[in-house]
Amino acid sequence: MGLLDKHKKIEKNATLLLVLSFLVVTIGGIVEIVPLFYLENTIEKVEGVRPYSPLELKGRDIYIREGCYVCHSQMIRPLRDEVERYGHYSLAAESMYDHPFQWGSKRTGPDLARVGGRYSDEWHRDHLSYPQGVVPESVMPSYAFLMDRPLETEYIGDLLSTHRIVGVPYTDEMIEAAKDDLMVQTDPFGDWDALLERYPGAQVRNFDGQEELTEMDALIAYLQILGTMVDFSTFEPDASR
Ligand code: HEC
Repeated sequence: MGLLDKHKKIEKNATLLLVLSFLVVTIGGIVEIVPLFYLENTIEKVEGVRPYSPLELKGRDIYIREGCYVCHSQMIRPLRDEVERYGHYSLAAESMYDHPFQWGSKRTGPDLARVGGRYSDEWHRDHLSYPQGVVPESVMPSYAFLMDRPLETEYIGDLLSTHRIVGVPYTDEMIEAAKDDLMVQTDPFGDWDALLERYPGAQVRNFDGQEELTEMDALIAYLQILGTMVDFSTFEPDASR
């Protein structure tokens, strides 16, 4: 019996065809999916990427609450036009502490993966308060109210703990100091050495320019850290992968 004849047998027997097809698909699926269970092995560790500081994490929550992701992606693809417009393509490690991640392809507005440091805090304040005052043809809504909303800080420790449950390596010390770290990040005259030790590269400023701590402070702190953790002047992709 030739190979084709054997195959004819499979093709004529629906049950056998089904069972064998299922077997092939299962093996293929396992080979593709199982490595992803060991994410530590698939995400290349990159120097500089750290968990968000408490203030940045609060800002991230506001970003998600306000639906900024509906119009903005945070994923620069390794395509020439994107890299020329937005900067170095995004690395998987850069969003390893993002829960949920902010990738996506819906771009009513520009990608924000590397918006950190591109504009001043004042620019963000003006733009978020009244986008059309900065970009007349903008369709972005106004978020001026964030300037008046006091930032909720009571549950910041719980927020960090929750992120720890899903794998962000916040230590007990970080969780205990969360509220202090949050407060001191907007106080340039405060004692922020410990904050910088826990979150290297965290920017300490009065982000919204007002006396009170507001949601605008947190949101701008978050925007200003986006895409800045990795130093791409020294970064070299791991060629063995
Ligand atoms: C309805 C869609 C929409 C929503 C929702 C939206 N944006 Fe925008 N955004 C835009 C558009 C369009 C632009 C480009 C024009 C401009 O700069 O206003 C933009 C520009 C920006 C820029 C400047 C980016 C650059 O590289 O120039 C930032 C920063 C920004 N948005 C942040 C936010 C944040 C933060 C939120 C949520 C609080 C948000 N956007 C919500 C549409 C949106």
